[in-house]
Amino acid sequence: MLDFAISMARDAGRLLRDRLGSRIDIIHKGAINIVTDVDLASEQLIRDRIATHYPRHEVLAEEGGLAEGHSDYRWVIDPLDGTTNYAHGFPVFCVSIGLEYRSETILGVVYDPMREELFTAERGGGAALNNRPIRVSSTAEIIQSLLSTGFPYDIKTSTLTNLDHWANFAMNAQALRRVGSAALDLCYVASGRFDGFWELSLNPWDMAAGALIVAEAGGRVTDFQGNAFSNYKPEVIASNGLIHGRMVEILAGKS
Ligand code: IPD
Ligand code: CA
Ligand code: CA
Repeated sequence: MLDFAISMARDAGRLLRDRLGSRIDIIHKGAINIVTDVDLASEQLIRDRIATHYPRHEVLAEEGGLAEGHSDYRWVIDPLDGTTNYAHGFPVFCVSIGLEYRSETILGVVYDPMREELFTAERGGGAALNNRPIRVSSTAEIIQSLLSTGFPYDIKTSTLTNLDHWANFAMNAQALRRVGSAALDLCYVASGRFDGFWELSLNPWDMAAGALIVAEAGGRVTDFQGNAFSNYKPEVIASNGLIHGRMVEILAGKS
């Protein structure tokens, strides 16, 4: 099933890359939350492929929601993570495919077609970038850490803006980044490019694959309190483990 997921991610990723910069149709789901016809085409490709090979499996994908099946397997898919980047022609986006078995993620594939980077993990089998094993960083101090986050689409109307956490981390870390793709943020923690990542208001399709990839790369993934992570809880801290406790403290407002 890992090979099957990789082949879907590569084909969907190629579709995204080929259509980047061409005329795309944009639909507004909210004031700043958009979906393009390319998101929909990528999701259709993946749904069709699963329906052909695993017709009984469940599929949870961002644009079409849950298609219930008759199986313990559930594919959790973001057909284009980084849609805002994509719509602006900013070449930082990916396809994210996770597979749950009885509610536990057992494999994850994230493919960035612009850099041709394929991040993969199988539960208990480690994580890899283009088939080479990856590990989280060894940065032990928050002041030496490069951290990443994202901001929710309802930032203009919600009280959960993440701006308070952004300010607190800016005063404690070496530097902060806002990539625009949560799945890539997680893979960059897994590969040691980032030392940590936090975000609130995420969805299962943003995190399912990337969270397993971080864990399999030796990292730690929890909620904001340091409790067990779930694809179905909206918040996540992913780190190299060494700075995790400090990230929990900063998110609790202890600077
Ligand atoms: C978004 C990206 C972004 C994160 C948002 C997500 P989308 O996903 O992952 O980095 O900050 O919360 O919704 O809409 O590009 O698939
Ligand atoms: Ca997403
Ligand atoms: Ca998406």
